Amino acid sequence: LASIEFDLTKVQEGQQVVIKWQGKPVFVRYRTPAEIERARAEDSAALPDPQTDAERVIEGHEQYLVLVGSCTHLGCVPTFGTGDFGGWFCPCHGSHYDTSGRIRRGPAPANLVVPTYEYLNDTRIRIG
Ligand code: FES
Repeated sequence: LASIEFDLTKVQEGQQVVIKWQGKPVFVRYRTPAEIERARAEDSAALPDPQTDAERVIEGHEQYLVLVGSCTHLGCVPTFGTGDFGGWFCPCHGSHYDTSGRIRRGPAPANLVVPTYEYLNDTRIRIG
């Protein structure tokens, strides 16, 4: 399928749901206020792949982060909550991503990819 729809009411605050899109895992994370605050505060940190948090979400829906769940190093699936920056950690070679999915430390060269998606209404997105 070129595109898929996802009902955001299926994900609770502080949780993520993993869906499959074009054979890849996609993380849909409902961020807590603390995660958003941390991501925004760290916009000015030394980022290997500089991007603001606002550039990685859709305005007015900052709580939802949608990411392709493949480490940009060699494609392992990172896990949430075990890295040093409050976000994801890739166990394959030790890449740490923050609460915006930005690479912060380790061999991965780039941020976790935000796929093309749009809101169909307040609780439904279409990815792809
Ligand atoms: Fe993730 Fe190498 S594949 S750090």
